[in-house]
Amino acid sequence: MPRLRTVHRCHECGSAQPRWSGRCGACGAWNSLIEEVEATPAAASSRPAGLRSESAGPAVPITSVEGHDDRPLPTGLDELDRVLAGGLVPGSATLLGGEPGIGKSTLVLQALANLTAAGHRCLLVAAEESKAQVRMRAERLGAVGDSLWLVAATSLADVTAAVTELEPSVCVVDSIQALYDPALESAPGSVAQVRACAHELVGLAKGRGTSMVMIGHVTKEGALAGPRVLEHLVDTVLSFEGDRHHALRLLRAVKHRFGPVGELGLFEMTGAGLAPVADPSGMLLADRRFGVPGCVVLPAMEGSRPLLVELQSLATSTSLQMPRRSAQGLDGGRLSLMIAVLQRRAGLALGTYDVYASVVGGVRVTEPAADLALVLSLASVVRDQVVHPDLVVFGEVGLGGEVRQVVHTPRRLAEAFRLGFRRAIVAGSSADGPEGMSVYRVASVGQAIETMGRLRPGLRALPGPGGPT
Ligand code: TYD
Ligand code: MG
Repeated sequence: MPRLRTVHRCHECGSAQPRWSGRCGACGAWNSLIEEVEATPAAASSRPAGLRSESAGPAVPITSVEGHDDRPLPTGLDELDRVLAGGLVPGSATLLGGEPGIGKSTLVLQALANLTAAGHRCLLVAAEESKAQVRMRAERLGAVGDSLWLVAATSLADVTAAVTELEPSVCVVDSIQALYDPALESAPGSVAQVRACAHELVGLAKGRGTSMVMIGHVTKEGALAGPRVLEHLVDTVLSFEGDRHHALRLLRAVKHRFGPVGELGLFEMTGAGLAPVADPSGMLLADRRFGVPGCVVLPAMEGSRPLLVELQSLATSTSLQMPRRSAQGLDGGRLSLMIAVLQRRAGLALGTYDVYASVVGGVRVTEPAADLALVLSLASVVRDQVVHPDLVVFGEVGLGGEVRQVVHTPRRLAEAFRLGFRRAIVAGSSADGPEGMSVYRVASVGQAIETMGRLRPGLRALPGPGGPT
């Protein structure tokens, strides 16, 4: 009979604390400890030191170990395969996290449609929806086929039985938070339950060569029993992001044992499911209005792909002691820092303004290359000066007001050129742009503002891609 004990578990990092406290002692998260009842680990190995367990076997030279040559199964969704570096690896475990309603179920169903069409037997565990609901959605997405099997179950034992019976190539569990193991004392949905279920499924996948995909909900505040505590258990962690009010969806690999992370997949939510976005920069810039101060175009990098986004600022005079600083799609700390740099290094005081800055289209830009674009956007709005419509700006800004080079300059400039931009303000040491593009190199924030002011906008429409300047 296992002994029971009460622990306080952090839903951010999963560590256990004997006592409740307002802040997790391990990761420092606030209000993240939840009381749980757990069985104490069985009087662990009473084996004397020096004796190994049967399963481990002796140590062997790495040269005598055979590697798997299991090829990843392409999901047929190019944007997903790009992020997965080919597809789902047999025997691997993947966690797909994202806010509720972002499109996780839609994404996996579309991938399953392609996988089953390619002849792979797939199992979808519907732990949140009924089989009829899944069938209706599958019909809309064209995912109904003989090789797609469904089980509506919330008990771990039922899932294990279904996988053992069916031996599918791919098994999707939607969602891991809805699954529970009745043998455990803790409540369904608790950290202990989610972790135990995920652990069991990962073991099952490894043992049978099934690709296990687990869907996990995250909320903006970090979910209750969120997928965070599962990250170390699985091989791949995918994050599906986007603004629910916008159609654009971004898929990233946060962790990937079989390829590089940082690659971005781009989808658009349409009436017929998720569609790949062929020209994301064009889509993000489609509704750009010219002649408004504070709008600057930034060639950001997402993985190996450049993505042109529009950065906007607004400043309104305020009598508040602590003026408002609001950043959307940008790092709030970085905004405050750039305001401070502007004040000290360029003499532009924003102390009497509420400042709002945002990236258009629900995209999030966190790379330092956004610094210079943000600085010029702020300067443009304060000086009420329109930025030239075919200008792009990027570079890292230091506390001394110096402008530093960032990675992938040629690729950023080439993408900007493709979309009709013919001028760029960049760091002094940056590489050249494509022929026909005027690249203005600046060393400091002050010089960048002065250069921006010299480029008087003629307020004409942009020439088409590759067209005359
Ligand atoms: P869903 O995949 O259920 O999200 P999640 O599993 O992440 O909670 O999709 C949620 C939204 O997507 C829903 O509000 C409706 C929308 N949607 C479409 O716009 N088109 C479609 O073809 C589908 C299936 C969903
Ligand atoms: Mg869902």
